[in-house]
Amino acid sequence: MSALIPLDRATLSDKQDLLTIEARCFSTDKISPRQMHYLLSQAKATTHLARVGEQVVGYGMCLLPALPRPARLYSLAVLPDWRGQQLARRLSQSLFAELHCLGYSRCRLEVRRGQTAVQNFYLSMGFGLLDELPAYYHDREDGLRMELMLND
Ligand SMILES: CC(C)(COP(=O)(O)OP(=O)(O)OC[C@H]1O[C@@H](n2cnc3c(N)ncnc32)[C@H](O)[C@@H]1OP(=O)(O)O)[C@@H](O)C(=O)NCCC(=O)NCCS
Repeated sequence: MSALIPLDRATLSDKQDLLTIEARCFSTDKISPRQMHYLLSQAKATTHLARVGEQVVGYGMCLLPALPRPARLYSLAVLPDWRGQQLARRLSQSLFAELHCLGYSRCRLEVRRGQTAVQNFYLSMGFGLLDELPAYYHDREDGLRMELMLND
């Protein structure tokens, strides 16, 4: 019943929980502890999380460059046991609502070409394909850049 799972803004005190989610959800391209510290404390970024009791079960993070540049969905992950309950969709929608309030009209992301299920998820959220990114990842897998218009 994910509609009952509250969403919240992350703070630096959530750093370890978010690193645990990174470790359990990604085999490559993980955010490092140092980078996470920076993103939660000094960087222009916003992070929303889903918490069940004391446990953080999912989170999403957007980078906030100076306008009029587009925001960037930088990470989105839900722990395996909590998937399939619309948590990623709710976390994204909550982030996009904040982006819109902050004046952003576009949000971009990059996704591995092989992650077709994730691409389909983003397509269902309204993202469109913007660019192909040959050998974008450090293992040289191609990427796709996708973009969502936020003000319709
Ligand atoms: C991708 C991820 C965040 C989705 O989390 P989730 O909470 O299970 O997603 P939701 O329940 O909100 O799913 C939303 C929709 O996307 C679909 N979907 C999401 N992930 C999917 C997957 N891996 N395979 C197939 N469909 C998927 C769901 O079926 C659902 O469709 P519906 O609304 O028509 O029912 C989660 O699988 C995850 O953490 N994966 C590992 C990290 C990752 O790849 N992150 C994305 C790239 S940064």
